[in-house]
Amino acid sequence: MLPLKVGVVGVGHLGKEHARILSGLQGTELVGVVDVDAVQAESVARRCGTRVFPNHTALAECVDAVCIVVPTQYHHAVAGEFLRRGISALVEKPLALNLEQANDLVALANKQNTILQVGHIERFNPAYEELRHRTINPKFVECERHGTFTGRSTDIGAVLDLMIHDLDLLLDLIGQPVAEVQAVGATVFGGHEDMVNARLKFAGGCIAHLTASRMTPIPKRKLRIWAPEGYAGIDFVRKSLSLVQPSEELRQRRIDFQRLDGSERERLKDQVFTRHLQTVELNCNHGDQLTRELEHFLNCVRTGSAPRVCGEAARDAIALATRILASMQQHSWDNRADGPTGPDEYPAPMVPLFARDEPLAA
Ligand SMILES: NC(=O)c1ccc[n+]([C@@H]2O[C@H](COP(=O)([O-])OP(=O)(O)OC[C@H]3O[C@@H](n4cnc5c(N)ncnc54)[C@H](O)[C@@H]3O)[C@@H](O)[C@H]2O)c1
Repeated sequence: MLPLKVGVVGVGHLGKEHARILSGLQGTELVGVVDVDAVQAESVARRCGTRVFPNHTALAECVDAVCIVVPTQYHHAVAGEFLRRGISALVEKPLALNLEQANDLVALANKQNTILQVGHIERFNPAYEELRHRTINPKFVECERHGTFTGRSTDIGAVLDLMIHDLDLLLDLIGQPVAEVQAVGATVFGGHEDMVNARLKFAGGCIAHLTASRMTPIPKRKLRIWAPEGYAGIDFVRKSLSLVQPSEELRQRRIDFQRLDGSERERLKDQVFTRHLQTVELNCNHGDQLTRELEHFLNCVRTGSAPRVCGEAARDAIALATRILASMQQHSWDNRADGPTGPDEYPAPMVPLFARDEPLAA
């Protein structure tokens, strides 16, 4: 079988990892890379044993499939070029800068009957995969996605940069339209929101609280679900899944704390986490996520099967992100129609929160 000819456009922080992995995959030939930063392109090409193409149009002449890992503002133009020629594309998340561009790329891929996969990599997190093998009907969900300030992805804000991962996961998990959206966000350095909190109500009643921040010293990526089946907590960084399920007695509502005498209450307290709320902790830390995402993409290209994260799914996440951004922009900080609104008009502090001589954390 002839190797699949692949290329990478944009070999910065993440794209260089795409190139490294693709250069080592069996049945795949990394034909070349493109980057507007010529020094970076040369250095990545040398390390991966491939060549540099002068631009993505030249690369498009030579590949069966491509990974597009340029800043989001260029996804539409660059991906469009490949999809129009019927070349399968893995476009990093978010699919595009806005809903109109996302719809455009989805329509192009459908018209050309081409694979369009989007880099919502948490769908390949083994802890999330482990959860998806189980039946759970979320009623309340909490998502936290905190990162440090990297200075990258400043063409978009925290919603499209970070929260988009959790929006995709929620839409995948809950599989219902969102009925209500409320959001609040703040800008630290100007431009786009750096912190955002959203409350979503799904059509079936499930409530989701999401927080995303790119101004946090310690990265954290967590998802917690409360459901009739029990509790599920994912730590995406550690790739672990905690599951808690009620005992048979609790499920059948056979325990009434109010009717128990003193010693029975004491015994029950001792048995909460051994007998009534049984817990398992699953360490799912196996296999590199990006490798598995790329292997999945290449398999879809070879077989024509639908990708796990198709263009439509990524477009739906952008549609929801757009509603969150609109709600955030309209948020009134002092509840006055003529008062400050949105992340850029976040009110100035009235007084310092701590004195200058108080010891700072390291
Ligand atoms: N899936 C994830 O978890 C994840 C994580 C990080 C970044 N991303 C996404 O990946 C993309 C890139 O992010 P990054 O952190 O690697 O950014 P980056 O700035 O480190 O890299 C982008 C690279 O693209 C190059 N570039 C810019 N315009 C170009 C063009 N028109 N043609 C060719 N090259 C061009 C830049 O020179 C740079 O080397 C973004 O869309 C981002 O949202 C996804």
